[in-house]
Amino acid sequence: MPKENPFLKEIAHHLKTHTGLEEKEILPLIDQPPNPEMGDYTLPCFPLKERLQKPPNLVAQELAQAFPTAELIIKAKAEGGYLNFFVKHAELARWILEKVHKEGNNYGHSTVGRGKTIVIDYSSPNIAKHLAVHHLRSAVIGNALFRLYKARGYHCIGINHLGDWGTQFGQLIVAYKKWGSEVAGSLPTKALKEDPVDALHGLYVKFHEEAKKDPSLEDQARQAFRELEAGDSEARRLWEHFKEVSLKEFNKIYRALGIKFDYYTGESFYNEMLNDTVERLKKAGLATMSEEALVVNLDQYGMPPCLLKKKDEASLYATRDICAAEYRATEFGFSKMLYVVGSEQRLHFKQVFKVLELMGYPWVKDCVHVDFGLIKFKEGKMSTRAGRVILLEEVLKEAIERVKEVIQEKNPNLPNKEEMARQVGIGAVIFADLSSRRTRDVLFDWKEVLNFDGETGPYLQYTHARLCSVIRKYGRPVESAVDLSLLKEKDEYLLVRKLESFPKSTVSAAETCEPVVLCNYLIELASIFNRYYNHHRIIGKNEELTRARILLADCTRQVLRNGLYLLGMETPEEM
Ligand code: ARG
Repeated sequence: MPKENPFLKEIAHHLKTHTGLEEKEILPLIDQPPNPEMGDYTLPCFPLKERLQKPPNLVAQELAQAFPTAELIIKAKAEGGYLNFFVKHAELARWILEKVHKEGNNYGHSTVGRGKTIVIDYSSPNIAKHLAVHHLRSAVIGNALFRLYKARGYHCIGINHLGDWGTQFGQLIVAYKKWGSEVAGSLPTKALKEDPVDALHGLYVKFHEEAKKDPSLEDQARQAFRELEAGDSEARRLWEHFKEVSLKEFNKIYRALGIKFDYYTGESFYNEMLNDTVERLKKAGLATMSEEALVVNLDQYGMPPCLLKKKDEASLYATRDICAAEYRATEFGFSKMLYVVGSEQRLHFKQVFKVLELMGYPWVKDCVHVDFGLIKFKEGKMSTRAGRVILLEEVLKEAIERVKEVIQEKNPNLPNKEEMARQVGIGAVIFADLSSRRTRDVLFDWKEVLNFDGETGPYLQYTHARLCSVIRKYGRPVESAVDLSLLKEKDEYLLVRKLESFPKSTVSAAETCEPVVLCNYLIELASIFNRYYNHHRIIGKNEELTRARILLADCTRQVLRNGLYLLGMETPEEM
């Protein structure tokens, strides 16, 4: 509960007089009760049992009796071990609506993170391949966490830890030199110029086919990667080219999604620093030889060994992650580092974190693997492409196309149809991605994802647009100096309470790294509003009542907008 809440202040003030408990002991306990009949705020007395040396129901009873009629509180009532408070509703509405109205786009923000840095590693695709759907999930979750933490005042650093290093680039260099020029003709892919990433992918495929027939290709590839690691200029030039064309394609998609990174420091960035890391591991007595590879033995912790170097001396994914973590700790001094990476890499992160712990780094306790499940497609075009990774670009294109069809049917005269379809199509995909617990697999069903009446992104955007249209129709500035005692409907009360709990839902979404908490909140807010809107006129004959309702509607619009922004979604004003 926010500290500046005047109702809670009054409650805490009176309780202090009776119990001697400090405000900071009482305030964190107070919450909204599950249903409004029980009161407006509730204090569970169980945690006070020890402190006051009495059973909770007795605590509640005594405190209720002693509670005076106060300025903002009408009465306190004991119910079992709970002390429930009934407050003046018009005052409650005034406090919240004035606050939302005044703070606008900043409502829900706080400064708790001031002076603290949080590093978020997200999307992190592999170059010379297309972005796949799991990179979308990572990008979307990471972006939401970035915005959620930023709104809490943290200094956020977004890193795209590109997969741009490893023996596969040796393979690609060999393949490119051998068949690069024939790619256009002989491979079932488009020319290198037209769709370079697709062509590079084709070269991988060709390499693996050919290597089955001629195993010496593998040796050549290892040699090529060694040259790349050693800084050979020709190998370097080709690799730079692979990276450039890949980033061009990735950035197109990130732009469409509205996702940004502060750094694209991928695995290659750590090449020069790897030896030092390995030396430290050796000095600490952690690195040992096993079957000609350099490893950290993790038997004792029930994990397979963490591989540092292969017998050909090539460094590995884990080594680069250990090195990257050290670098980030020194460079950014983070208070938290989040790795938004699929659940299939759970073991990898457990191993990396364990090694960092064994190296004696205290900050490893602040590293979190924010894992997530798979995206599966229920029906339609996407699922028939068996055996192939589903490409992100195709999903986004399909979403936009499908929204266009809906608009054509529902609102063919809408101006800016293209732009709206883009915002809503992409919003639908983002919301579908965020609206279940991270570790659950997402079953992507186009009908559900794009349902304007379901628990979807388009539903929220539509509700927002509807609110904008009400405000447009009103046509005057929204004022906050209005008579809020006129808001007597139950749904008006519920809306006010929902608006009040927005900051709490964003805190919980950030702290648990579960954007779904905010998704659920927004769905509930939109449902209350839509029910209200279907039963009541916002703009009516009664001028005073209209002004009060418009303020409530405008605050609802504001909170929907703020919430959708935090999820990484756009909010068209007309749909
Ligand atoms: N490039 C990896 C992949 O596509 C993900 C990298 C995640 N980040 C990290 N620091 N390991 O699977």
